[in-house]
Amino acid sequence: MSESTPSTLHVIEHPLVQHKLTLMRNKNTSTNGFRRLLNELSTLMAYEVTRDMPVQLVEIETPMETMQAPMIDGKKLVLVSILRAGGGILDGVLNIVPGARVGHIGLYRDPDTLQAVEYYFKMPSEVAERDLIVVDPMLATGNSAVAALTKLKQLQPRSIKFLCLLAAPQGVATLQQAHPDVHIYTAALDRELDNHGYILPGLGDAGDRIFGTK
Ligand code: URA
Repeated sequence: MSESTPSTLHVIEHPLVQHKLTLMRNKNTSTNGFRRLLNELSTLMAYEVTRDMPVQLVEIETPMETMQAPMIDGKKLVLVSILRAGGGILDGVLNIVPGARVGHIGLYRDPDTLQAVEYYFKMPSEVAERDLIVVDPMLATGNSAVAALTKLKQLQPRSIKFLCLLAAPQGVATLQQAHPDVHIYTAALDRELDNHGYILPGLGDAGDRIFGTK
């Protein structure tokens, strides 16, 4: 990337986002608390991710007079949740975009190779020419994200954004190299990955913390 090229990485540094993220990182936060915080934090992040949604003026009548007022333009947004942990972010985004269509991709990480293996793919019927937001809490190696985005691009959406809670430098670099057109939104860029592909300092296994599994 040249020095004049704006980065596709957006770290959302809003104080409420950072405060809630700290609570989520804390290992003493309960499953219930983690889930509630994820929902709230995802709603706050959704506000930033949808900031450039196109609007058009429509004529309405207020109780006082007729006016031209802005409304979201065009086709419904498509949210794509990467199973299983993406569901936590999905619910938070749907709080403010309740009309969005929703797709799911099931990917698991081969523990030896750390490569993504797909086991489920279900999308709404119309994805072509729509704006997609792919959600997954942890951008770690980036392999799952790259696999998901590569598959989704075959459906020819108008644009794709990637929304996560935490990103590791390695995951960001991998994703940016494979998909330089995809903007990444995260609440924090953490230090590194451990030998098992977990983010440090991180928050542990997002799926386990959402669902109370181990
Ligand atoms: N997935 C997680 O749930 N946590 C990590 O730290 C990395 C990947």
